[in-house]
Amino acid sequence: MTFNALKEKGLPLEKQLRNWHLIVREPYNKNEVDCYSRTRQILMNGIEVEAWNFKHAFSRLCPDKEACDLVTMTRRIEDQQQTTINWLAPKDQSVLETTLGYEQVAVDLTAWLAQNEPDKYVKETYDFGLLEDFDHLYRYAQWAYMEEGICPNEIVQAQTDVIVGRPTQHHHNCNALRLRKPYDKATTAPQTKVNLMTLVSAEQQTHNYYAEHGFCYGNHVLRETYAEIKDVEEEHVTMYESLIDPTESLYEKLLLHEFTEVCNYYTCVEDEVDERLKKIWEFMLDVEIGHLHIAADLFKKYEKRDPEEIIGEDIIIPCRFTSQKEYVTKILTSQVNKRLGTDKDYMNIDELPSDWVSYDIQRKANELGSPTESTISIISEHMGRDIVRADKKLADKEVELLEKGLQEEALAPDTVYPESLQKMIDEYEENQAIKEKLEDEIY
Ligand SMILES: [Fe+2]
Ligand SMILES: [Fe+2]
Ligand SMILES: [Fe+2]
Ligand SMILES: [Fe+2]
Repeated sequence: MTFNALKEKGLPLEKQLRNWHLIVREPYNKNEVDCYSRTRQILMNGIEVEAWNFKHAFSRLCPDKEACDLVTMTRRIEDQQQTTINWLAPKDQSVLETTLGYEQVAVDLTAWLAQNEPDKYVKETYDFGLLEDFDHLYRYAQWAYMEEGICPNEIVQAQTDVIVGRPTQHHHNCNALRLRKPYDKATTAPQTKVNLMTLVSAEQQTHNYYAEHGFCYGNHVLRETYAEIKDVEEEHVTMYESLIDPTESLYEKLLLHEFTEVCNYYTCVEDEVDERLKKIWEFMLDVEIGHLHIAADLFKKYEKRDPEEIIGEDIIIPCRFTSQKEYVTKILTSQVNKRLGTDKDYMNIDELPSDWVSYDIQRKANELGSPTESTISIISEHMGRDIVRADKKLADKEVELLEKGLQEEALAPDTVYPESLQKMIDEYEENQAIKEKLEDEIY
């Protein structure tokens, strides 16, 4: 593959401003859209939000007038792009349906990145975070069914498994412990930099979405569930952004932001199955190549360096959205008992010191219970057991996974233990057998 974005013409800035009619496009049909068109739309919205946010930070920190003039002009375009993309979602797609889409993005994006990441330590961090978003998908899937009668496969279209991961009650850490070792900007591959910028954008937007929508439901435990998971997304932004070298200059960061946008839109164009959406991605790609030229010129002028030193000569594929079930199962079955180590490393539960700093956070945060645990007790009262969508081989391991993933220390008082889950499943299966027998007799 060769696509050197700096050699492409792109759309010049003076042609990028659009009228309201062209900014607001027709939404997709939630019953017909491919689940990975939806994940692209969710991811690209997050990328645009980050582009806009970063450029405000740039203006607040940069004393160079010419640079600020150009950045403020492109920032408005980023904002218009964000509107176009975010508003492709239809009004009848509920908050919980959209939420399942957000967690599908997190699972399938993180799993793809982990397999295409040249830096071993960054990869390990992706594998760690993967099992947390995987558990979020499972917890939200219960609520989507209870509140709206939606089965998770209506959204994830059987491309992503839904089953217990590392229990969310154990995702609450001391934020300082979430801080990982940053890469070295001088020696790290552009792929690692683009991968991280992509994931930080996705996690940040997930946090923002839960912050802005968790109150939309009347059910108090569901509101608390959003609050609990939103707090974990804050930890995820903290963790992933800490891998980025903080000594990159503003101009270097600007260049990497625009390049990340180019790479992601390039991938969207290549992968999109919906012709109408594909045209939107093509336009956005052209816009971003225009931005990249501006960032590259500023980098040359103020840093007196060649932009290709930072972004290389070829395009990077940050994510192909495809089913990652096999990889996720491998990490899930082998690493569900991992925790953040005290030396920027990772440890298994049985290696944690008794004064592990996150125990205190978990005891405090969960002292009156963990809403994501109550979620499972509540659904079992409604329909006998939890909602699981995975092939039989994985589904049969649910109790075993829970046993391996649960800590003995700092457990929430409403914890669903493996024995209770097993009992739920056994009773449910007995009841199913009785129901089937009765149905055979009656119909
Ligand atoms: Fe943009
Ligand atoms: Fe999540
Ligand atoms: Fe996350
Ligand atoms: Fe841009």
